[in-house]
Amino acid sequence: HLSQKSDLRARRILTRSTFATKAQTVKKTLQAGAAAGKESFSALQEERREQAERSVLISCPPNINQKKFLDYISKHGHVQNHFFYQSYGIYAVVEFSTKDSITALKANCTIPSVQHEAAVPFKSRLLSLKWTGQGSQSNASNTLKLQKHLPIPINELSQHLSKQESIDQQLQCLTDLYQLTEENISLRFLVCSLLRDIAAAYFPECIIRPFGSTVNSFGKLGCDLDMFLDLDGISGQNQRKGSGLSLEYQVKQGTSERTVTQSVLSVIGECVDQFGPGCVGVQKILNARCPLVRFAHQPSGFQCDLTANNRVAMKSSELLFVYGKLDARVRHLVFAVRCWARVHGITSSIPGAWITNFSLTVLVLFFLQRRTQPLLPTLDQLRDLADPSDQCIIEGNDCTIVSDLSKIKLQKNTDTLEKLLQEFFEFYGNFAFSSTSINIRKGKEQNKPESTPLHIQNPFETGLNISKNVNTTQLERFVALCRESAWLLEQKEVLKRNAGQSADVVPPWGLAALLLPSVAQSAGVKGRRKKKHHPASERIKTLLESLKSSSGGAGAKQSAV
Ligand code: GTP
Ligand code: MG
Repeated sequence: HLSQKSDLRARRILTRSTFATKAQTVKKTLQAGAAAGKESFSALQEERREQAERSVLISCPPNINQKKFLDYISKHGHVQNHFFYQSYGIYAVVEFSTKDSITALKANCTIPSVQHEAAVPFKSRLLSLKWTGQGSQSNASNTLKLQKHLPIPINELSQHLSKQESIDQQLQCLTDLYQLTEENISLRFLVCSLLRDIAAAYFPECIIRPFGSTVNSFGKLGCDLDMFLDLDGISGQNQRKGSGLSLEYQVKQGTSERTVTQSVLSVIGECVDQFGPGCVGVQKILNARCPLVRFAHQPSGFQCDLTANNRVAMKSSELLFVYGKLDARVRHLVFAVRCWARVHGITSSIPGAWITNFSLTVLVLFFLQRRTQPLLPTLDQLRDLADPSDQCIIEGNDCTIVSDLSKIKLQKNTDTLEKLLQEFFEFYGNFAFSSTSINIRKGKEQNKPESTPLHIQNPFETGLNISKNVNTTQLERFVALCRESAWLLEQKEVLKRNAGQSADVVPPWGLAALLLPSVAQSAGVKGRRKKKHHPASERIKTLLESLKSSSGGAGAKQSAV
């Protein structure tokens, strides 16, 4: 038995060292996963959704003792996973092995009696743990590990980046620091599941699914939570054949899909507002192109957008996920470009004429398709590789893409991230935006069908432009910043970390230099106004001077040594 055990351990170690390089690991996991049907987008989402249904969210007293907490919670069932985080107070996410444990836990919960006010007796899976006054409360040696759910500030990020040895490492470091953690994704699925419990009062078969950056693999800590209310499971067709009779529900009818969506969202929004614990600032934005209910979920700290009837957006999220899976460089480049754009006010959290993160991601994908050795396949190629079971038509649009990623054969592109970043800026710094449209379905520039400043064909609804909102000023700012950045990445002061600078504070270089506040002053509304008084060349001059002086300083130090 013992030798069996050590044999197992040895094999595990061997397995680990066999998959030494990251690229190999990703490839092997993908192949193995795809073979097992596990890595497919929908299987992954389904697994996370099911985990969330077995989970509860508990607000804890500040001096909570982890052991005591787990002992108490485990009385109701086996705890499969748990973690703590800080939002407005300390919270715990607890995942039980089975749903029954939640029933057992809820049987022990009471509705609080509130003074001067009255409680809505809605029994959700958002709970509060209280001390009853018995037993000792805290433990001096209690060191609770709290998960981080927000990105580090830009100056800290810059320090981390500057300490890396190469630009490639900088891009990898940025992704590591910014990407959503497994715990954060679990919390996002749990919030969807909690909201589903509210919507299920009307539509018991409904599902609330996250989409957008929560699931497309490009999400940054702190990004919003996009959700859609999926009612498709309701209209199942299992009529009894042969009897000559059939039964159907009597239903209310709306004048269009849109009006039905609006009325459903209006009612669910009202319930979220009136009954949803922790849901605040509910706004119904029902006249938007895609009607939505927006609110903040306080216990998680997420800004939430709930939509309905939004299958194409889900498919777009899957498409981005697939592209992100194909080559690790895709995510690194997208994270870098998204961060660069945010810092320089190219993108904004306020809706308006800015380029969105979605458009920006499509710009990166298109650039990667346009390499001499294309790094990514076209969307048409992804469709052609699809199995019959992958076929997906939504409102007349062919949204089919291959789900078995092992079928995709990539070309041999060995470009470094440094080269890709530099050439991304060159590519769009010189792109013929006025005459051409960006088309990832064909992987080629197309003639622009309309005269909007920026035309990026919607991958699935091909008659639409995903960047219709972008005005000439914003496009010009994007192009100018691309040119600036391309130029900066040609300067030797920017390209190399200064030799001998291993001290705690390393002057910004490489990607960190591209994010510098002196260039980035234009971030935010205030900055944009300011920018008018500071021409780009002047800002670049200042930046380079500061870089030169810091590298000069380092050099002087070195020669003195
Ligand atoms: P964040 O900025 O991190 O939230 O990125 P995101 O990808 O989640 O973008 P956003 O929240 O703006 O939109 C959510 C999803 O809706 C996107 O991932 C797309 O799938 C879809 N989407 C956003 N904008 C458009 C658009 O203009 N057209 C279409 N067809 N889909 C869009
Ligand atoms: Mg989003």
